[in-house]
Amino acid sequence: DRNNTGQLTKYYDILKDAAIYYYKNLRQNESALNYLNRRGISYETIKKFGLGFSNDAWRNLLDKLKNKYSISELEAVGLCLPNKDGTSHYDRFRNRIMFPIINPKGKIVGFGGRVMDDSLPKYLNSPETDVFNKSRTLYGLNLAKNVLNQKKQLIIAEGYMDVITLHTNGFENAVATLGTALTSDHARLMKRYADEVVLCYDSDFAGQKAALRSLDILHGIIEKVKVVVLGENLDPDDFLKKYGSEAFKEKVETALTGTEFKLNHLKQGYNLNDESSKIEFLSKAVSVISEIENNFEKNLHIERLGELLGVNTEMIAQEVFKGQYKKE
Ligand code: GTP
Ligand code: MN
Ligand code: MN
Ligand code: MN
Ligand code: MN
Repeated sequence: DRNNTGQLTKYYDILKDAAIYYYKNLRQNESALNYLNRRGISYETIKKFGLGFSNDAWRNLLDKLKNKYSISELEAVGLCLPNKDGTSHYDRFRNRIMFPIINPKGKIVGFGGRVMDDSLPKYLNSPETDVFNKSRTLYGLNLAKNVLNQKKQLIIAEGYMDVITLHTNGFENAVATLGTALTSDHARLMKRYADEVVLCYDSDFAGQKAALRSLDILHGIIEKVKVVVLGENLDPDDFLKKYGSEAFKEKVETALTGTEFKLNHLKQGYNLNDESSKIEFLSKAVSVISEIENNFEKNLHIERLGELLGVNTEMIAQEVFKGQYKKE
């Protein structure tokens, strides 16, 4: 209804005013500018992503906006919090580099804020509000959507810095989920803009686990899903700084299919020189291959698995297709 629309418009106005305040404030803070400079972020990039800074103070933003908006409105968009006895409010974001989160319509819906040292939490995000639903928001989609006309491929990274470095290196089709696991709402949002999704998570254990989980969620929603494994515990930001954009392009072009990734991951848990371990791997691998829908792809993996283990492929095929016939 109109009343509610008016309220939401007001929320967007508040968030925009806050972003402008943080943005201007960054220009006055030498240590924040130095931090971004150390991380390879230029003024042009600061502008493009609207980066800002929140001061190390309890109510700078509140003081700036309290005459224009009510405290309850500022609280409703997640910018301030009540103190314990509820007598006053304070700014949620303090002493942090600010990353505005912008929806595809160009509206700011929330913020991420990063500390400049190793204090915790490293990142603080806006809470869920009437205008910010984390499981339906992809950081960078406001920019990425403009390049998804011909080649409808999205790169999915974990973090703000990954998206920013990817974009500045020419991969403007990159987006990130915001510290939350990928959801089926995210998957459906991706499908509106792309027909291929390339997962490019941190190559640490947590990132690889997340890739496995995301593959399951994307299955049945996005037809073409690939996985980039960067290695050396690098994330896309680290990788691009270390090896450059040509090397990253190569990584995307040689990305693994979901099945290749799953089988590689599975293999790491087994010693194939040990017979009982090998047999266990074989039966687990068979169930991964059984899930493949395309029979040519199935057969390809049956061949590969037979070769890898020195096992008769007929026997593997029998096992793989056993499940299929049972289902029908
Ligand atoms: P940099 O250290 O700045 O390069 O960040 P990163 O993106 O590499 O961080 P990391 O791989 O640790 O985390 C990936 C993403 O998860 C971040 O970009 C955040 O969106 C989110 N995240 C990381 N740490 C936290 C945290 O402490 N709290 C919350 N809510 N989110 C976090
Ligand atoms: Mn990580
Ligand atoms: Mn399917
Ligand atoms: Mn990371
Ligand atoms: Mn990083």
